[in-house]
Amino acid sequence: MKKNDIKVCLTPALFELYSDRKSVVVVVDILRATSAMCIAIERGVEKIIPVSTVEEALDFKGRENHILAAERNGKIVSGFDYGNSPLTYLNEDIKGKTLVVTTTNGTKAINIAKVDHHVVIGSFLNINSLSEYLSDLNKDIIILCAGWKNDFCLEDTMFAGALINQLVKKNNFQHFSDSCSVASLIYKTAEIDMFDFLKDSQHRKRLSDLNINEDVSYCLKRNETNLIPIIVEDQIEAFK
Ligand code: MLT
Repeated sequence: MKKNDIKVCLTPALFELYSDRKSVVVVVDILRATSAMCIAIERGVEKIIPVSTVEEALDFKGRENHILAAERNGKIVSGFDYGNSPLTYLNEDIKGKTLVVTTTNGTKAINIAKVDHHVVIGSFLNINSLSEYLSDLNKDIIILCAGWKNDFCLEDTMFAGALINQLVKKNNFQHFSDSCSVASLIYKTAEIDMFDFLKDSQHRKRLSDLNINEDVSYCLKRNETNLIPIIVEDQIEAFK
């Protein structure tokens, strides 16, 4: 049986080297964009429109049934009610709404990948159902880490390692790349206590300086949802 190949693209700046117009791309931004998207979909958001600029998000201002979220450098952009906290979507009534969102890194990574690839949204919050979905799709995979402003980040690579470990146990996946090996090693080192493992990571420090700590522990929870957010015609909705 042909095994499907897994690759890890450690930052969006490298994506051109990985893009092959046929692999499925799993976009991951653990702190916090893709984690927030998974919970927004779980909590009943109808669809998500990821935009790269604040101006594009403002184009939707005043539209019925739309909620607008914008985050830059971890903070809510002024003039917006929502930033990028997954906890927001646990507390608000968002059923049936359309969420328009722009973030520092996550939405940019999604918009780069969706040009030539089928895009799936990944996080620890849906990791088991995600690996089932990818196994059923039976295609080569690129795990695209959103990183931080085109730089490497620890938490996205750690997640890539966790997903690789789950997929290689499913007989129809293999990997040969050093970026996959390093991601696996990072996850094996971290898995006992991911929150503690990230204590010196750049973005956890950035969020902690903004008094954002609960979000970090929440984004490291596993399998809070079975839903798989995927891109359909430029928008994100739950795979049906
Ligand atoms: C991002 O897109 O860069 C992140 O998700 C930032 C954040 O939410 O803190």
